[in-house]
Amino acid sequence: MRNPTYLYLTLLAAASLPVHATSSSSDFDTTTLSAPDGSINATFVAFGSTLTSLWVRTKDHTAVDVVPGYDDPSRLRTDEGHPVLISTAFCLFRASVLISLYNPLVGRYANRLKNGTFSIPITKYPQPDAPNVYHTPLNDHNGEDTLHGGIHGWDRRSWTLVRASPTSVTYRHIDTADEGFPGTVTVVATHTVSDGGVLLTTVHATATEKTPIMLTQHIYWNLDGFEYGSDDILGHELHIPGGAHVIEVDGDAVPTGALIPVAGTHFDYRDARRIGAAFEADPHFVGYDNAWIYGDGSGGGHTALWSRLSGVRLDITTDQPAVQVYTASLNMPRKGVHGGPAKQYGERSTVAIEQEGWLDAINTPEWGVNQIYDPGREFRWNTKYQFSVLS
Ligand SMILES: *[C@@H]1O[C@H](CO)[C@@H](O)[C@H](O)[C@H]1NC(C)=O
Ligand SMILES: *[C@@H]1O[C@H](CO)[C@@H](O)[C@H](O)[C@H]1NC(C)=O
Repeated sequence: MRNPTYLYLTLLAAASLPVHATSSSSDFDTTTLSAPDGSINATFVAFGSTLTSLWVRTKDHTAVDVVPGYDDPSRLRTDEGHPVLISTAFCLFRASVLISLYNPLVGRYANRLKNGTFSIPITKYPQPDAPNVYHTPLNDHNGEDTLHGGIHGWDRRSWTLVRASPTSVTYRHIDTADEGFPGTVTVVATHTVSDGGVLLTTVHATATEKTPIMLTQHIYWNLDGFEYGSDDILGHELHIPGGAHVIEVDGDAVPTGALIPVAGTHFDYRDARRIGAAFEADPHFVGYDNAWIYGDGSGGGHTALWSRLSGVRLDITTDQPAVQVYTASLNMPRKGVHGGPAKQYGERSTVAIEQEGWLDAINTPEWGVNQIYDPGREFRWNTKYQFSVLS
């Protein structure tokens, strides 16, 4: 049985969010990066080390902003679609769970954490009261698990601007045992644009004591930028050449420990396919929120996404072992450049493609994946986003 005191504290923390989520105006000052050849530009804010716009070239030599967001970045602080709300009774009245999280870095532990509980060393069934067992806020699926590092994960923290140049920005965040995780973690992220339509994000983190770390960059894409007569990503083609397995999950989106071979399923993107085909083939299909393992899952992989309407192609290469694909429905006003605020980001208007580790590996010891870091083991995460125009 769940510990009622703990659940109460989780709800209390959620209710008092505006007090906890302190921020200053500089959190939302945008830093603009432009590639010297004019192929790409990006804006970032320190709050969550968040990407707020990304302009790339299309087939007609114009440019589109391929990421959703808010015209006023300070709305990231109150973001009504943030998983912080999901633990409250309010969620009972929601038709579906909305998770906006517009393009931040997510940590200390991204994705789900079963029962908001883990032990160090890891075990399959942590004993709740054992001294080596840790508890994190239950902010997902009516208090069944932790999502995206808790209520005040790294995406909701004031990172510090360390340095900026016309092509690169570096932010640092010091996470002092937040959200029930052990030890202090210092995380440094650098975002760089370069010629030929490249955005590179590199992250490293160091811990003062043993702690799990698993990061993602939670970017949603619409490669038409809502400029080519389509309001969704169903016509986008997706290619995960090394994605032979997805992680099987239970009703709380928590891994069961099993892997599903993609052959013959709607998970098979080893050959490129329109995302919409899966919805057309099965009227009951509600969309993807799944993790594909790249190859044997030891780290590194490639995902491609393109739209024939704009002609924009995105190739993502990473050192991470998995990619989460989330065909979101975001019922939020669009940015001005996307036709907002009169128009909304609606059903499957964007797709999140998140480079990450094996999710909840810290409760799945049978996988043999080591996600525990300490002063002798630095965490690293690198992902390159390369834009081109289809020929
Ligand atoms: C879930 O965690 C709570 C403590 O937060 C514990 O009391 C409970 O036994 C755990 N449930 C399971 C199924 O492990
Ligand atoms: C980025 O590029 C687009 C298209 O060239 C341009 O309209 C926009 O002003 C640029 N953004 C910034 C912040 O420089």
